[in-house]
Amino acid sequence: MPWPFWLRLPVSLQALALQLLAAPIAWFIWHAVMLSIPLTFLQWLLVAVLQGAIAALLSLSLRMPWWWWWIQFLFWPLLLCALMLPVLVTWAPLILLVLLLVFGGVYRDRVPLFLSSRRTLQALHDLLSVRHSMAKVIDLGCGTGRVTCDLQQMLPTLNMVGIERAFLPFALAWLRSRITRPRPAIALGSFWGSHLGDYDVVYAYLSPAPMPRLWEKVCAEMKDGSLFISNTFEVPGVVPDQVITVDDWNHSKLFIWQIRHDRQGK
Ligand SMILES: C[S@@+](CC[C@H](N)C(=O)[O-])C[C@H]1O[C@@H](n2cnc3c(N)ncnc32)[C@H](O)[C@@H]1O
Repeated sequence: MPWPFWLRLPVSLQALALQLLAAPIAWFIWHAVMLSIPLTFLQWLLVAVLQGAIAALLSLSLRMPWWWWWIQFLFWPLLLCALMLPVLVTWAPLILLVLLLVFGGVYRDRVPLFLSSRRTLQALHDLLSVRHSMAKVIDLGCGTGRVTCDLQQMLPTLNMVGIERAFLPFALAWLRSRITRPRPAIALGSFWGSHLGDYDVVYAYLSPAPMPRLWEKVCAEMKDGSLFISNTFEVPGVVPDQVITVDDWNHSKLFIWQIRHDRQGK
């Protein structure tokens, strides 16, 4: 079991620490095997693969989530390959800027940008059109506005609101909202500052990391009878009232809770 101080570190610092630990090990192994042959690109690539493999093994042994094993393994080989492409090097500052504008806030809530599938939209439409067609709905972290704008168009009686913290996705969602009828509201900011009691339906497609804290917010703020829908990510230890499996490429699941304060104990 990893030590308590280790578990308190943000996962990005854990990953960095393991890469720093892996570097001298990889270097030592390389020199033991290859002696002092000067490094060509291919050999550098092998060193990067060796370093990645050691960092991935360390991540596995310290029980980091499985996707970190892959990040740790692929980081240096991919970086090395990218450096060999002159076009990437020339455009590096612009690429970095775009990445920062899209993913710059990931270190806070550990929620990157990926979009709900079209079939998920259809499932949401089918769910809401039965008894919630006039609902006020918020999409927490609306990304480029796919759910907020498309669902608004599919079910015009809804009152859709999207909030997004990353600037570039927000700008795209806002532009999209301008050509959507009726027009949904798109706000720039963190959903932690939104009052969820103002909505009949709260939709979230985030990551496992913020779910326990988000559930506390849901229980503290949402009204009796309102719906909390989480795409893919469960609330640890809280059984949903309904689960809809979507017929898309990764069989997304919509976990749905109907808020009842007598039951939720708030
Ligand atoms: C997985 S994407 C989902 C996008 C969209 N809701 C959808 O379903 O297609 C999650 C989005 O939440 C945003 N996000 C993460 N934490 C946030 C926060 N505290 N406030 C607002 N947006 C946040 C991220 O920038 C990202 O764009």
